[in-house]
This record gives sequence, structure tokens and C-alpha cells, in this order.
Amino acid sequence: MSAGTSRPHCDRTIVWPLLRSHFEHEACHFDVRAAFRSDPNRFENFSQQAPHVFADLSKNLVDTHAKSLLLELARECGLERHRDAMFAGERINNTEQRAVKHWLLRAPAGASADPDAGAVHATLDAMLAYAEQIRADASITDVVNIGIGGSDLGPQMAVLALAEFAIPGKRFHFVSNVDGHELAGVLRQLRAENTLFLIASKTFTTIETMTNARSARAWFEVQGGRDIARHFAALTTNVAAAAEFGISTTFGFWDWVGGRYSLWSAIGLPVAIAIGADGFRQLLGGAHDMDEHFAKAPLADNLPVRLGLLDVWYRNFHGFTSRSIAPYHSALRRLPAYLQQLEMESNGKRVDQHGRALSVATSPVLWGEPGTNGQHAYFQMLHQGTDVVPVEFVAVAHAEHDLPGHHEQLLANALAQAQALMQGKTDGGGHKDFPGNRPSTFFVLDRLTPASFGALVALYEHRVFVSGSIWGINSFDQWGVELGKVLAKDIAARFESGDAAGLDASTAGLLKRLR
Ligand code: F6P
Repeated sequence: MSAGTSRPHCDRTIVWPLLRSHFEHEACHFDVRAAFRSDPNRFENFSQQAPHVFADLSKNLVDTHAKSLLLELARECGLERHRDAMFAGERINNTEQRAVKHWLLRAPAGASADPDAGAVHATLDAMLAYAEQIRADASITDVVNIGIGGSDLGPQMAVLALAEFAIPGKRFHFVSNVDGHELAGVLRQLRAENTLFLIASKTFTTIETMTNARSARAWFEVQGGRDIARHFAALTTNVAAAAEFGISTTFGFWDWVGGRYSLWSAIGLPVAIAIGADGFRQLLGGAHDMDEHFAKAPLADNLPVRLGLLDVWYRNFHGFTSRSIAPYHSALRRLPAYLQQLEMESNGKRVDQHGRALSVATSPVLWGEPGTNGQHAYFQMLHQGTDVVPVEFVAVAHAEHDLPGHHEQLLANALAQAQALMQGKTDGGGHKDFPGNRPSTFFVLDRLTPASFGALVALYEHRVFVSGSIWGINSFDQWGVELGKVLAKDIAARFESGDAAGLDASTAGLLKRLR
């Protein structure tokens, strides 16, 4: 058996009962305020500078003993072998018999001996040349990405995050939902002769994307548009289906790129048009720096490993069911949505890589909004609710605007919220009391640049790998999305016919109401 498929269940390791016992006898009473009092070096001991990203983990509910047991867990679970198997191109996505090589998309030319490296760079060069051609074409004022899931969330998040680096004079639109209100709302703003549609779909079969693509093409033709080759491009692994659709400009990628890991492939074309070839290469470079860190840093100093182990500690020992993402930067406003797919589609599984039931909990629920907005909405619950929700702050030290006072206010709020969650406040009991001891992690980027952003996203990818690896699951398939797709097809046909035979009473009743 390959390293990718011979992993022990984490709860059957020797160290698991030691972790359980440490939690029950000591760690469940851990008070982070007392930990800071007794260890003047706690900040230094529990923070680290990784490539482009500084991380302060010191406000988390973890002590040095738990930390060393968790590292032992990683060793016993064969995390390093599993990671190395990914970087060696083994087919660790065993249910689909695919390698997992999104990291190869960001390896510099000549840096990898992988047999696909040449094709990766040839495609990258062609895609970036095309991006530059579109950037230079002043007649294209609007770029519309039609895609969903990984073919939408990554590029959309990145175009927003890197707006400061984007070419002026071009607007970027992202249409994902099959809900025609979305496409219609975008089409109203467009002129066919000034628009480039990018049809982004790994499979080129996704019903939402194909429905939107067909409607976009019909609209284009009704508007008098003739030159499909100039105004439509496809980003897909299914080049034949794109050709059949009538698109001749296609940038391909490979089955070893998971949809939610595809930002770095041709799916990143809107990002490349926005920030240019150099900017896109910097994005890849930042991610590659994080790949190197994950591949080579010792486990104890390996940031994705430390974060992934913390996720296991919180989910399986503290029993926390969710994690809140709080980017204190408005340009990172789609980060929580992107991370929802990355983490919950990767690790929202209840069986191991062989399909055997797991007896440990897996992916938490991820959610969040940018700060300071979240403070005026749900932070009440984070501070005083009955559930403990670890919070993840993402702050950027330097702003790209020169409006006085704003950035200091923003950063002060981020620090204050993390401080308040930890310190709490006793105020005579009752509704004015804050329990405190509520955990948070604090990430700092010096500036939000293509490189730092790339590193941040790769950090999250690898962290999800780590927790998924410890849980023994295949983080790279997504069978759980299939049933709904099949049923939707059946129900769509019933919308036409009105036939409710064989449906449960609720679905039948609702169908009747909605028709
Ligand atoms: O339905 C889930 C999913 O398969 C995601 O994994 C994927 O990112 C998304 O749909 C879109 O798929 P495609 O890029 O093939 O259109």
C-alpha cells in the first residue's frame, strides 16, 4: 500500500489516550490568562514567522504538553509520509485514483522533476500571454467569469483581495448561481463588443455553469455578437466539451488539480488579467514559498502542521464545532466563503479513505465576515454566548490607502477583540460579565500583496491537509455533493411535467406550490 492510503485511525494511536487523559485531567481547565502570567515567553513560544505570514497562536487553549503530544500524534499518524506522498505525486486521492499536485502549479520553472512540470509551464506561459493580450486590449472593458465552487470562489476572492494591483479600466464580474437574477443583473451592465466571457469549469458539465454559459452565449448573439472565439474562453480539463460548446480559446488543466485547489491553474485567468503576468507569478511564488515551508520545516516549526493539529485538538478534545474567520481587511471579504469550500468540502467526511466509518468528529463549520463589521453583528455571541468559537484574525500591517486614522482604528479593533475574548471582564455578575478565556489565532501580513496573499491561501490549503490527514480521510474527493445533483435533475424534469409520483409528501407539496 502507498503512504497515501495506509494511515492509522488517529483514535487508535498510542498517543490518543494520552491526549484524552491530558485533556480530562488538566487541559480542560486550562486558563490562557494564567498561562501568560506563568510564562513570560508564551508569545514567543507560541508564535512564528512563516513565509510572508506571521502567526500568533499564543492566545489558544494549548499548553506545551498538549503541543508535544499533538506532534507525537502527527508522527504516529504518518503525517510526514502522507505529505511526502502528495509532493511525490502519488495518487493519494484514492477514491478517484488521482494524484494531488496543485503545488506543482506554483513550482518555478526547472524546480520540479515531475513529469507534468513542462506541460504546467507551457500552459502557464500561454495563459499569461493571453492575459497580457486582454490587458492591452482597451476594447475589452468587462471580464465575466462564469463558474461555481472552486471555479468561482478562488478567483473571485483573489481579484477582490488584489484590487489595489488591478489594471484600471476593466471591470470583473463573477456569475456562479444558476439563479438567473445573478446573470441578468450582470448582463444589464454589459455591451457585447466590450465583454470577455470566461467559462470556468473543471468538468465542463456543471449544470449551473453550463446553464449560465448557454444564456451568456445566447445574449451575446442577440446583441449582435459574432466573434465567439474573441469573446469567449474556456478554462477546463475537458477541452473536448469546450470545443463542442463552440469555444476555441481554451486553457486546460489536469485531473490532479482539485476544483477547490485550482486558483493556481488556468482557473486563475481572471486574476492574471487583473494583476498581470508578473503579479500572477508573484502570487504563485508566495504560495510556493509556503509549499517549501510545509514540505521541509520540522513539524514543531511548521505552521500548517501547528494549525492543523490545533484544529484536531479543538474539534476532538475541546469539542468545538465551529471556527470563525475574521479578516480585518475589506479586500479579504470573500476569504471566509472560500475557506468554507476549502475546509468543509475537503474534510466534511464521516468515513476514512477506505470508506470505513470514523469514530472521531471531523470538519468544523467555518463562518465569518470582515472586521469590524462582524463586531456589530455576531461578536456578541463570540464574547458571551454559550458556545466557545475559536476566532481567526487576519490583519495587514500596512494599508494601501492614505486616509488618516482608518487603518489604526481597524487594527486597534482587531487587537482589542482578541484581547477581550481572552481577558474577559468581571462586572458584578450577570449580563455585563465576559467569561474570557476564549481562544483566537492572529495572522499578520506585512502588506496584502500577490505574494503574501498566495502564501496565506497555501497555508490554509496545507492546514486542511494536516487535519484531514490526522483524521484519516481523503480530503480530495467530494462525493457528498452528488446526491443533490441527481435529485435536482429528477425534480427539474418534474417541474416540466408536474409529475409528483413517488415523491415524499413534503417534496410533492412544495413542488406543487412552486410550479
Ligand atoms: O459540486 C461540487 C463541485 O464539484 C466542486 O468541487 C467544484 O469546485 C464545483 O463543483 C465546480 O465544478 P466544475 O469546476 O467542474 O464546474
